[in-house]
Amino acid sequence: MTYREAYARLSEIGETQLLRFYDTLDEKDRASLLDQISRTDFSYLNAFHERNRETKRGAITPIPAMTLSEIRKRRMDFRKTGFDAIRSGKLAAVLLAGGMGTRLGITGPKGAFNIGITRDVFIFQRLIENLLRVVEAANTWIHLFIMTSERNDAETRAFLAEHRYFGYDKDHIHFFTQSMAPAVDENGHVLLETPSRIAVSPNGNGGWFLSMADAGYVDLLHTLGVTFLNVFAVDNVLQSIADPTFLGAVIETGSACGSKVVRKADPDEKVGVMCLEDGKPSVVEYIEMTDAMRTERRADGSLAYGFGVILNYMFRVADLEKVMHEQMPVHFAHKKIPYVGEDGQTIRPDMENGWKFEYFILDMVHELPGCLPFEVEREREFAPVKNREGTDSVESARKLLALNGIAL
Ligand code: UD1
Repeated sequence: MTYREAYARLSEIGETQLLRFYDTLDEKDRASLLDQISRTDFSYLNAFHERNRETKRGAITPIPAMTLSEIRKRRMDFRKTGFDAIRSGKLAAVLLAGGMGTRLGITGPKGAFNIGITRDVFIFQRLIENLLRVVEAANTWIHLFIMTSERNDAETRAFLAEHRYFGYDKDHIHFFTQSMAPAVDENGHVLLETPSRIAVSPNGNGGWFLSMADAGYVDLLHTLGVTFLNVFAVDNVLQSIADPTFLGAVIETGSACGSKVVRKADPDEKVGVMCLEDGKPSVVEYIEMTDAMRTERRADGSLAYGFGVILNYMFRVADLEKVMHEQMPVHFAHKKIPYVGEDGQTIRPDMENGWKFEYFILDMVHELPGCLPFEVEREREFAPVKNREGTDSVESARKLLALNGIAL
């Protein structure tokens, strides 16, 4: 893209300010800025300018889940069905590891965080060890796709290679990077992070399937005969991956997708909740729940919206392909975004100064024909590492690992 082309493009959207340092840049930085402008998706700005339009959510009502007691009764059948599908190569796993880990206060990949006390126990290691349990029981490798972002891709690959993939077969591991979104100031203008670089951040975990397709991996799934994808978050060190019982339950109930849920610990727990929206399964993210929804109780005292998603979903590839090009809602996060001052130096603000754009994986649930909320025991399967201290922290995750007999 030439300067003239970039200027024309930015004029259309009122963002020529992104070129305000252009004259001061050397050739290399000029080329890099023009290249970034040509690659940036500015359509997020429309969503920002329309954000005050009423968001059209349907009528929300509670949803029942397949509970632990029902699962216990049908466990043998589910496991057999699940293992049969795994042995015939129908399942692959997708690890979402493109997030920035800002709450944990780290700069590198979250999976490289060491949660051990007397020995090294990296988050990636815990996840791979859990997946290996199923690989060994099924006696077959399961393809593992890992989504990174341009911020942590090289480090993630290098870290896993250095640790020899923690015993996983590297031919069954495939990396792909997610897309980035520009960040804007309070008025909706795109920020520069340096004189030659637009401030961008990973565009949320909702674009994972499109990014997989862009990398050519949906074609690979067809070639391999993979029809189910188990998608999961990087931060849960008790994450049960490729769980045959969960897969079997989704297959046997003929569900379009499945979502592992736990009973919420309290009304304010930061988890999305499953519900029905206009009669169809859906998920409302914790930041978007109303007070009434958070606190409503049933006659027996339990929370009406009490099933929290742990970010472990089972999807059917064919259904994902049908909905992949539908426009997903854009969510806005108010954040502290480093930006360039008029002297060309980057300023790191102490207060929120702008907005980042994100797509959420949970919005895919409502697009699909149905979803099975599948209850799991939180002490056995949910130990998220999100914060340094307190709730969902290194400390709380260590306690839960100890409870499950994992030496640290
Ligand atoms: C997430 C879920 C929430 C769920 C909770 C359970 C979403 C939007 N939120 O909340 O419903 O109850 O986990 O712990 O799904 N990620 C990317 N790219 C991004 C952003 C995130 O790959 O651009 C990955 C992260 O690396 C992580 C996962 O998505 O594996 C969750 O990310 P995060 O944004 O931290 O979500 P939470 O607020 O923890």
